[in-house]
Amino acid sequence: MPATKPPPESVLISESRLQHRIRELGAQISTDYENQELVLLGVLRGSVLFFADLARAISATGPPNPDCGVRVRFEFVQLRSYHESTKPSKVQLIHGGSDYLEHRHVLIVEDIVDTGYTLKFLREHLGTLNPKTVKVCTLLDKPAQRQVPVAIDYIGFEIPDTFVVGYGLDYAQQYRNLPYIALLESI
Ligand code: PRP
Repeated sequence: MPATKPPPESVLISESRLQHRIRELGAQISTDYENQELVLLGVLRGSVLFFADLARAISATGPPNPDCGVRVRFEFVQLRSYHESTKPSKVQLIHGGSDYLEHRHVLIVEDIVDTGYTLKFLREHLGTLNPKTVKVCTLLDKPAQRQVPVAIDYIGFEIPDTFVVGYGLDYAQQYRNLPYIALLESI
């Protein structure tokens, strides 16, 4: 049976606010990496919708302006977290993180930074692959849940300590295809 949508009054960030902010992030990233090659490294699965919209908000090298813009390449990693109530989450690499990242500028694209364990693990893993630079762009930042300090270079929205779904974020694998961010208050 299809998932029931969260009620409209629970919309935390509307589709238009999301898209406006993503255009701003794309413009900033386009300026910061002008005329350079940039590997967008998406963290599966939650970042998929944000990744696709952000990538299109970064000015492309190509017709009609082959000499300016950002030369973007797509790469992906998939990670798995094990949550145990009394211990910090363990994170494991399932797929991705190729040797192609060596000597490249890498921008990690995340949907949300919560405890920070995923990002800490990924930064340490990328360190072994010898990239030129590593920066982080997250759509959502929930600092109230942070367990380990992590540096974030581009943040779409800072959100309160609430459970959110939509625009890639799930609850039991549902709600990922909502075009907005909603509060799921019954969790
Ligand atoms: C979510 C999200 C981040 C991570 C952040 O992924 O996409 O990768 O949690 O949490 P943290 O800061 O506490 O580590 P999740 O493990 O839910 O997998 P998914 O992307 O497949 O939904």
